[in-house]
Amino acid sequence: NAGYKEDPNDEYELRKRPINGDADRNSDNGGVVIENTVNLKKTVGLISGTSFIVGTVIGSGIFISPKGVLSETGSVGLSLIVWGVGGILSLLGSLSYAELGCIIRKSGGEYAYIGAAMGRVLAFLFAWTKIIVLTPSSVAIITLTFAQYFITFFPYCGIPAVPLKIIAATTIVTLTIINCYDTRAGASVQVFFTAAKLIALVIIVIGGLVKLGQGHTATMKTGFDGTVGSASGVALAFYDALWAYDGWNNLNYITEELKNPYVNLPRANIIGVLLVTVLYVLANISYLVVLGTDGLLGSDAVAVTWGEQVLGSAGIIMPIFVLCSTFGAANGSLFAGVRTLYSAARDEQFPEILSYVNCRRYTPIPCLIFTATLSLLMLIPGDIGQLIDFFSFAAWLFYALAIVSLFILRWKMKDAHRPIKVFLLLPVIFLVCSIYLVIAPIIQDPRIEFLYAAIFMVGGLVFYIPLVHFQLMTGRFDTVTRFLQKLMEVAPSPYVPD
Ligand code: ARG
Repeated sequence: NAGYKEDPNDEYELRKRPINGDADRNSDNGGVVIENTVNLKKTVGLISGTSFIVGTVIGSGIFISPKGVLSETGSVGLSLIVWGVGGILSLLGSLSYAELGCIIRKSGGEYAYIGAAMGRVLAFLFAWTKIIVLTPSSVAIITLTFAQYFITFFPYCGIPAVPLKIIAATTIVTLTIINCYDTRAGASVQVFFTAAKLIALVIIVIGGLVKLGQGHTATMKTGFDGTVGSASGVALAFYDALWAYDGWNNLNYITEELKNPYVNLPRANIIGVLLVTVLYVLANISYLVVLGTDGLLGSDAVAVTWGEQVLGSAGIIMPIFVLCSTFGAANGSLFAGVRTLYSAARDEQFPEILSYVNCRRYTPIPCLIFTATLSLLMLIPGDIGQLIDFFSFAAWLFYALAIVSLFILRWKMKDAHRPIKVFLLLPVIFLVCSIYLVIAPIIQDPRIEFLYAAIFMVGGLVFYIPLVHFQLMTGRFDTVTRFLQKLMEVAPSPYVPD
């Protein structure tokens, strides 16, 4: 098709056109069409933004981790402190990210901030790690937890590994189809499942408060008895709790899709994280009051055991709520996670086709399919514990770099409009804690896996130097790109500053 590039009316024209002032803004469907390009719609407001955060943060953790936190801290008092401090740390992070997201308006989260502050190479290494490992592994972990709960409804088959993976894989495929079909469908799934998990937590909280009111205070009175003295125990407890809080930054991945972002981003970040923190602390109190420390330590699925004790036969709803919770969190992780790839591909750091958006549905189909494929591959080795270990180490390294970017941007973009500017001490505290969270596991238990992880991250350079820096492959795959464009009906989606 020799005339392809010259044909100005071709719907899927390969080359990007300059964005000009008379762009044809097609506003009745909410999407923006600029000549032959197509952009993601601005569909997320305050409620959907907040439920996006709450719905991704509340996933598997609060229904599983309380046992780990209690056993590693040894006492009721310290475990509640860990849950509270985990929430405060996430709040400090989300406040700092609100500032970052209001100065750098591009989607993609850390990728955009690290890129603006520290340059393309580091931004690429983040995107590389996030796209190849972090997003797929978190989707895999959460869908595997979904599968574990799903299979409890079929007790006769035990917990065989293969059906577990098949269920997880089916979930990933379903979520991908929903998100390819319509961004609004993805967002509605999020709102629906967020409501379900909030109901579950509220039931747990009320149940606990009622028991407390009835005088079941013995467990709470044990206070700090039995507290474990070791710093490493406390650090491990923090890892468990912080997995439950992870996702506090997820709205920053989709800032371009936010309506009125300067107001909605900070508000949703703060409301979302505060709400989760209060619910998590109260849910833990309820678990402790109802089950006691021994009961809690003896249960692998604490919410289910809680349901059996308090709700009796109606306790069957608890695993159903956990299913909803994990399904929604997997949806949110996929929805947010692919935006880093979208953003990086748009900057030509990854094959350009991965940044294209479907012309009819306004969804980033290529990057969804790419990420879903990697998530499916992650299911094959699928040891959940190991996946979480690697995830936390790498994730906190990049949170720290994003906060360093905040400091650099204050100096580099001194005069930029800052609708929100956080008090400097807050990101400093966050930075110190995140450095600790990166270094502590390596010092405590210097396993070879950390070295592999570091080699993997830096190893991204093997691709960066020839493919991105020297652009050795640029233009070689035009035929493939055109074929995929027609197959998926996708077109370029340049950044539109607002
Ligand atoms: N907090 C979630 C849970 O408890 C996990 C979030 C995964 N992280 C992410 N960035 N999507 O299951």
